[in-house]
Amino acid sequence: MKIIPRDNLPDFSLPLPIFTSVHIADAISRDGDEFDLFVGLDKKYADQLRELSSDENDANLQNFTGDRRRFVEKTYEHWYKKNRTPFALIHKQSDALAAIIWFGPKPLGKKSIKFSGTEEGKMESDWHTISFRSYPNFRGKGMMKNFAKFVIDFYKRYFINIKFWTGTDDRNNAFTKLITDLGFETDEKTSDLAEHWLIMTKM
Ligand SMILES: CC(C)(COP(=O)(O)OP(=O)(O)OC[C@H]1O[C@@H](n2cnc3c(N)ncnc32)[C@H](O)[C@@H]1OP(=O)(O)O)[C@@H](O)C(=O)NCCC(=O)NCCS
Repeated sequence: MKIIPRDNLPDFSLPLPIFTSVHIADAISRDGDEFDLFVGLDKKYADQLRELSSDENDANLQNFTGDRRRFVEKTYEHWYKKNRTPFALIHKQSDALAAIIWFGPKPLGKKSIKFSGTEEGKMESDWHTISFRSYPNFRGKGMMKNFAKFVIDFYKRYFINIKFWTGTDDRNNAFTKLITDLGFETDEKTSDLAEHWLIMTKM
């Protein structure tokens, strides 16, 4: 995935107001597909996110994330209030939400909604969580590593000196490969491997 940052971005702070976005880069996958890379999600993509989160055929998403609860049973608006900052890859040709990576302040190791956590974040924490989704038509195409590297660097310009963590089911092989390649390491103290709850951090 080649990422071409856009010049002369307007000034803004993060998180953006809900349902607003800034086009910060363009991207081309190894298959030659072209994408817009946004920070923030317009309403139509938040609607797609909700739809994708309800997809019962997406076993990985349903098994490894709490997105159905997060975006279908609860709302995007409710989630956004926790100071979340989503970055999205939009497939130019089909206008489809291809992948999303989001960040937000959250105490280290707090269990995710999937593992019966409540997802409340504390603003003063220097720990920020990162979450990844690629959607079925775009999954496994090698897009996520460079997308992640780019948005981690971008987000860090707005939140200096933060530390990143993510929690996942340790049977989520695609994700543990991706996150290890991004330089995250297992945090033994906060992981609960008996419950398959794996915490990975990056300073
Ligand atoms: C985790 C997820 C974001 C990874 O996205 P992806 O589209 O598969 O990512 P990529 O195609 O860029 O692959 C990333 C790496 O994982 C590897 N990989 C992909 N699927 C794999 C699998 N099942 N087992 C082992 N490695 C795998 C790829 O080969 C690639 O490594 P490489 O760069 O050395 O070739 C995606 O699988 C997903 O959205 N899953 C459902 C939601 C989820 O579990 N999110 C993570 C919890 S926060």
